[in-house]
Amino acid sequence: MKKEEFKLIKPINHIAFIMDGNGRWAKKRLLPRTAGHKEGCKRIIENIRTCKRLGIKVVTLYAFSTENWNRPQKEIDLLFEYLKDFFNDYIDEFISSGVRIMVSGDITRLPLQTQEVINKGIELTKDLNSFVFNICLNYGSRQEIVRAVKNCINDIKDNKIDLDNINIDTFKNYLYTKDLPEIDLLIRTSGEERLSNFMLYQLAYSEFIFTKTYWPDFKEKELIECLKEFESRDRRFGKITEE
Ligand code: IPE
Ligand code: IPE
Ligand code: MG
Repeated sequence: MKKEEFKLIKPINHIAFIMDGNGRWAKKRLLPRTAGHKEGCKRIIENIRTCKRLGIKVVTLYAFSTENWNRPQKEIDLLFEYLKDFFNDYIDEFISSGVRIMVSGDITRLPLQTQEVINKGIELTKDLNSFVFNICLNYGSRQEIVRAVKNCINDIKDNKIDLDNINIDTFKNYLYTKDLPEIDLLIRTSGEERLSNFMLYQLAYSEFIFTKTYWPDFKEKELIECLKEFESRDRRFGKITEE
């Protein structure tokens, strides 16, 4: 008998992943840490496909933090090499399946070739709207908030917006994620239970799931387990649940 396909009962607009545990996955196999990043890239595309199939509209993936520059240069170089290959390998699939590529973070510090491939991907997919893949690169949430405040102040000085019109809806327009729906669910792999400077503003009412699975082992089965857990949660947004 064919296994029943999992379907989401409650729709999810936006799911965010802190992919973590690539290094430990590799270490456990006596491989260099970068082997974990290479394997991890395979899970990125697979998890995007699964989310898309389930009707999720946006995937945000934390791939490189502002703090990750403190890692050995060789690891950083290889990680960006693999990310470049990732976009080269899947750009045609993104275009044909309506995936818009978007970046949160300042990519101008990335290796030039990686920047070029990503910018090409953004340009080629800018009008697509079935799905958004938002990759966070050289991203730090505190930096994003400070940048937003500065841009906001400049707009006030230039009379583009009135101070009285700054509120939680208009402030959102200064964040990288301005065009995206609220994050419904955050999943962090690898067992760490922290945000590591990720989307501090955007996660205000998201559900959090921390799983011990290392990212390179985080396949469809593990994702569906998290989605089931999400569906069992009662999101109250400050209200009370009817008796
Ligand atoms: C996540 O895996 C990838 C990045 C942060 C770039 P890690 O490289 O952090 O793997 P661990 O946490 O050391 O196992
Ligand atoms: C967070 O993972 C950053 C990304 C996933 C890109 P880290 O592995 O860098 O976080 P810490 O150092 O464990 O907090
Ligand atoms: Mg880590």
